[in-house]
Amino acid sequence: MDAYFLDWLALFFRWFHIIAGIAWIGASFYFIWLDNHLEIPPDWKEERGIKGELWAIHGGGIYEVSKYKLAPGSMPEVLHWFKWEAYTTWLTGMVLMTLIYYLGAEAYLIDPTIAELSQGQAITLGLSTIFLSYIFYELLCRSPLKDNSITIAIILVLFGTVLAYGLTHLFSGRGAFMHFGAIIGTIMVGNVFRVIIPSQKALVAAVEQGDPLDPAWGQRAKLHSTHNTYLTLPIIFIMISGHYSMTYSHSYNWLILIAICGITALVRYYFVLRHKKINRPIILAGSSMAIILLAFLISPKQLYEQPTETSVRVDRAQVVKIINDRCVQCHSSAPSDEIFKVAPSGVLLDDWAQIENWAPRIKARAVDTREMPFMNKTEMLDEERELLGLWIVGGAAD
Ligand code: HEC
Repeated sequence: MDAYFLDWLALFFRWFHIIAGIAWIGASFYFIWLDNHLEIPPDWKEERGIKGELWAIHGGGIYEVSKYKLAPGSMPEVLHWFKWEAYTTWLTGMVLMTLIYYLGAEAYLIDPTIAELSQGQAITLGLSTIFLSYIFYELLCRSPLKDNSITIAIILVLFGTVLAYGLTHLFSGRGAFMHFGAIIGTIMVGNVFRVIIPSQKALVAAVEQGDPLDPAWGQRAKLHSTHNTYLTLPIIFIMISGHYSMTYSHSYNWLILIAICGITALVRYYFVLRHKKINRPIILAGSSMAIILLAFLISPKQLYEQPTETSVRVDRAQVVKIINDRCVQCHSSAPSDEIFKVAPSGVLLDDWAQIENWAPRIKARAVDTREMPFMNKTEMLDEERELLGLWIVGGAAD
């Protein structure tokens, strides 16, 4: 399909995906918050089997919420389930993956400097990693280890690390991060589909028939919903990481991915504790420090910061030649690249004024880091990066 219309489709599905994701994670945050803020109800409510109540004001109305120990004596006619948010987020996410990373595999998923894959191979590898990782997770949570949630957590962290390493050595950094995100998303939606919803169905059926409840369902649901709680912040980081190439294009991108997932999960832990009225600001302070430290650790070396007397003078013609040779294939009002038909990120480098305006970003993307040209498609040489660097630190005006 025409790259231009593909972009529109991707825009639509991204929009849809974000809306569904907000609804899903928003509802999940709301219910966790609700559960942790329930107060002991008055006697007359307790006699009806209510274990906690909560009062809230929103949108000009006052709400009274009650949570049953088990269930009401008879089921209400309308019971809301909250499951389509999760399914829709996953479905739109997979459509996005297909539109961007599979149809555009050459541009976004395959990096020949990492692995020379064909489009078919890359897609097969991508989909099977998602599927097999989910199967691994399911088997682990059904294994005899299931009663030991700490062991499960440790195994999952190790598995995640191996996965991150493997994916970043198969795909482009960005493609690898998105696949890692898709695996987390699949596990989360799988938990809703395979465990949380069935356990709720079992609860409703037991109440309707007046049967006693099987506690095994409740335990399984708890393990899986705890996992979902801690995965929400990491997955949101991964969703937006595609816009921040310093994370995914670093040579240790797999470690950065795991570190950020760990730190964001810790932030979630802070809030879980706080909901239980345990305030540990040290956790929040520690995770913020860890992110700042990480940012410094992975910062690109500033090779050309100090121009000296003996610095080579780089003249305008040299700069224009480099940009023409290596950048305008994509960054032009009429790109010649077969995939990028519209200048990516609106960066136009057709004339001198534009080149000067973008100088700081050119330094950030093509000199300090090697993120541009995109996957070095135009085979830029190190000498050329050096010349651009010298020109920019020399004032970028000549
Ligand atoms: C094959 C196409 C292609 C080529 C060639 C290319 N780019 Fe890019 N460029 C992209 C894409 C795609 C993006 C958006 C994704 C991203 O930001 O990683 C982008 C984004 C950018 C951005 C904007 C984002 C920001 O960080 O502000 C800058 C600046 C940039 N490129 C500079 C360059 C320079 C300088 C060159 C030449 C040395 C170059 N690009 C060559 C595809 C290309």
